[in-house]
Amino acid sequence: MAIIGHDIRKAKECLLAGKIVAIPTETVYGLAGNGYNPDVVASIFTVKERPSFDPLIVHTDSLHKAICFVAQMPPLACRLAKWFWPGPLTLLLPKRQVIPDLVTAGSHCVGVRIPNHLLTLRLLQVLPFPLAAPSANPFGYISPTTAQHVADQFGHKIAYILDGGACAVGVESTIVSFDGDKPTIRRLGGITRSALEQVVGPMAMQLQHPPHRPCIPGALFSHYAPKKRLVMGELSALIAQYHPIKRVGILSFQTLYPEIPAQNQVLLSPKGCLEEAAKNLFQGLRLLDVMDIDLILGAYVPNHGIGEAVNDRLRRAQSKLC
Ligand code: TXA
Ligand code: MG
Repeated sequence: MAIIGHDIRKAKECLLAGKIVAIPTETVYGLAGNGYNPDVVASIFTVKERPSFDPLIVHTDSLHKAICFVAQMPPLACRLAKWFWPGPLTLLLPKRQVIPDLVTAGSHCVGVRIPNHLLTLRLLQVLPFPLAAPSANPFGYISPTTAQHVADQFGHKIAYILDGGACAVGVESTIVSFDGDKPTIRRLGGITRSALEQVVGPMAMQLQHPPHRPCIPGALFSHYAPKKRLVMGELSALIAQYHPIKRVGILSFQTLYPEIPAQNQVLLSPKGCLEEAAKNLFQGLRLLDVMDIDLILGAYVPNHGIGEAVNDRLRRAQSKLC
């Protein structure tokens, strides 16, 4: 089993030996390895069971180091980096050859970010390479926001889990690409659209659709998804439709529903705070996934600020037949 600890020296030792280490970030935990070594990168794809056409983000601790593997930064990318790094923002930038093609799935652009987590920043400072790291969940499943979430799924497959506590933001980084100097939002995340626009002006949005694993017809498959069926909508109507025929669990922003046992309800933020809802989202889905229920009924949160990213994850987590 992987050791869970706070030891940066141990994490460094494993990474120098070409092993995979789970790292905390402010968004979600990552499955990290030497981003310059194609064999290590290949092993990350294998452990995560991720298709090789879905690229990995490369993490570093300074703009100065990023320039070693980024060929060029448009002026607006520089401005966003200076404003939001370290933080939950990934920039897609032309890569240098030192980044293996496997990291970017053949694209000439690499996703780069400086995460805002003290332990991981300290680790990055003492490493001679950046860390390629996808979220530390099996492909398609709910992202991890605690060291225990990672241990539950990868404990037997990885060397070390660096425990940085519960992730403060709770949804993944916002991804921005550039066409010349024109920025486009490609994934909603921890930095809100309005925060970005305050720095670079109005932005286009063209959300990426993650590749779907080929699966057995009739099976359920989604992204960021629990194994239990998740139905999103207006909760009173959904409860009237499914309860008591099915044993339901509830994922709600701040309202409790008296007809459903309280222990089967997860409130993302009883006080109605969107940041708190983001922080609790993946933990809430995981709790519901292990409850003794038949299906999960969920409601969207108010669609502004980080609520946009929360709703994006909920939309993608809904059960779909493939
Ligand atoms: O907050 C985060 O971004 C977390 C933490 C660990 O940093 N990481 C994360 O990684 O969410 P992952 O692999 O679960 O999602 C990254 C997504 C990929 O699915 C892909 O869509 C996009 O980022 N991406 C990464 N590199 C890219 C590239 N070169 N071109 C286009 N999209 C890219
Ligand atoms: Mg992910």
